[in-house]
Order: sequence, then structure tokens, then C-alpha cells
Amino acid sequence: MDAPCHPSLHRPPDTAAPLLAVESVSLEYRNARQEVLRATHEISFEIAPADRFVLLGPSGCGKSTLLKAIAGFLSPVSGSIRLDGREVSGPGPERMVVFQEFDQLLGWKTVRQNVIFPLLAGRKLKRRAAEARADECLAKVGLSVFANTYPHTLSGGMKARVAIARALAMQPRILLMDEPFAALDALTRRKMQEELLRLWDEARFTLLFVTHSIEEALIVGNRILLLSPRPATVRAEVNSERFDLSSPGSADFQQAVQNIYRQLFDEPSGAPAPDDVPDAPPSARRRGWARVLGFMRTA
Ligand SMILES: Nc1ncnc2c1ncn2[C@@H]1O[C@H](COP(=O)(O)OP(=O)(O)OP(=O)(O)O)[C@@H](O)[C@H]1O
Ligand SMILES: [Mg+2]
Repeated sequence: MDAPCHPSLHRPPDTAAPLLAVESVSLEYRNARQEVLRATHEISFEIAPADRFVLLGPSGCGKSTLLKAIAGFLSPVSGSIRLDGREVSGPGPERMVVFQEFDQLLGWKTVRQNVIFPLLAGRKLKRRAAEARADECLAKVGLSVFANTYPHTLSGGMKARVAIARALAMQPRILLMDEPFAALDALTRRKMQEELLRLWDEARFTLLFVTHSIEEALIVGNRILLLSPRPATVRAEVNSERFDLSSPGSADFQQAVQNIYRQLFDEPSGAPAPDDVPDAPPSARRRGWARVLGFMRTA
């Protein structure tokens, strides 16, 4: 029988070893005039199997760049990225990415064909097995009824679900998600967070999730890495295991939001912290970061 839609089945026997090890990773872009823009500076962290690890930092700090490097689309200028002890040197099916953009699906293929395509293209499964896996994963995200429809007929939330089903069908060692729910309305976003946590509860896959919402980070993650403005460096790591979708009203949760905001921006306590991490907080402007951020935006 074909293996079910459970990436956890591919977990190595030694669960104590880090699944992903990012060591002192610096990433840079070069423009046409060969000017260098440093996106991340000597970032280090380790992710264990079944972690829900969140990268949280202000817009433009380098989160997507880091995710792209882990996905293998970009090479570090220094440092190393290892998955199961092996150096990442390019994209691979063991690191599937779900992006923020709704147009990540192939518009000329049906929902079902979108999920089947990478399974066949990557020679992961034969057609019959790929079809069975796709059907199972679509059922898990509640889209069986829409299997034969085309992406342009779906809502944003449904497209996000197809992208998740497609990624999970590949049974990756780690699922990389770059602000997958950022473009959704608040209700749909909450529903998607709920679904993601339900899927994780069933399959215990390893997740690396990027967001700039403090609330989303606390709900989705069990560990949160706080990043500075660009070039991203590690500010701190926060344990958020105790929070879930029912937590946001609690005093403990609000305190955690405040603490994270302060650690990100060194704000004095008292002022309510916004949920979304702003580009440049007042304190940052006072310290002259605005000049740096201004440069970033035009970069
Ligand atoms: N392809 C590229 N070429 C040159 N510079 C880039 C490229 N992609 C991103 N950058 C720059 O690298 C920096 C980090 O960008 P990145 O997209 O990683 O930020 P981010 O933290 O994901 O932001 P956001 O939260 O807004 O998505 C920015 O200054 C951006 O302008
Ligand atoms: Mg980004």
C-alpha cells in the first residue's frame, strides 16, 4: 500500500539530532553595478524533527532570503546549511516551499493535477500511486469536491490549501512556509492557522514558518527566532509551546506579545504592542535606523 500523506513517516530514527542546522549564515545580493546588499548576517539556529519553528522579524529584514537559501535557491556567502547532516546545495523535494503568492499554482492544471504534477515530475511515485496520494492530501485539506476545478475558480484560502496539500503530498523532510496566510482576510487566516495546526497534530511534520505577525508566530510556532532589521541577525529565541488558537485573549499571551515587541525593538513597556511587526518603530527612528531602513527600501 502507498504511504499516506504523512511526512513524519520519513523521520530519521535518531530524533535527537537536529534535522536542519543553519550555522553562521550570511546572505547577500549584488545589483548590476556589483554593489553588495547584505540580507542576513551570521544567522545560526537548529530545528529538531516535528518543530514548528518561526522566523519573526520586520519587513525587509531578510526572512524570505533566508528561507530561499534553505530551500536551495540561493547560496550563503559564508556559513553552512545542513539537512540531516548533508550540505544544502540546491532545491530538493525534501524541502517543499509554500509561498505567500496565490499564483504559485499552475493555472492550466486542475487542483488534482497540481498536486499530482510534482509527484510525477520528481519521479516520486507512479501515476496510480500519485493519484491516490493527491486524493488523500486533498481530502485532508477539505478540497476533494474541488479536485477537478481550476485554480482561478478558487478563493485565496482554497488556493493556499491546495499549495499546502501539494507540498505535504511530497512528504518533505521539512515544510517551508513564507507568510502563506498574509494575504488572507482575518477570518480565513485564523481558519488556515487552525487547519495547519490540525494537520501538524495528525502528521507531526517539521515546519519552518515565516511571518511578521507576532500573534501568528505565537499561535503557529513552538519556537520563535526573533530577527533584527536588515541585515537580519538573531535577537533572541522564544519558547511559545504553551500557546494555541485559544490563547490570544489571555494575559499570558498579551505579555508574550509585549515581551517579543520589546526584544525586537527595545521598546519601554506600557505602550500596547502592535500585532504586526512594524517596519521601523519610533525607537528605531530615534536611533537613526530610519536612514538604514530608507536605504533598504530603495535597494
Ligand atoms: N532578488 C533580489 N535582489 C536584490 N535584492 C533583494 C532581492 N530580494 C530581496 N532583496 C532585498 O533583500 C532584503 C531582504 O529582503 P527579504 O525579501 O528577504 O525580506 P523579508 O524579511 O522577507 O521582508 P517581508 O517581510 O516584507 O517579506 C531587502 O532589502 C530586499 O530589498
Ligand atoms: Mg518576505
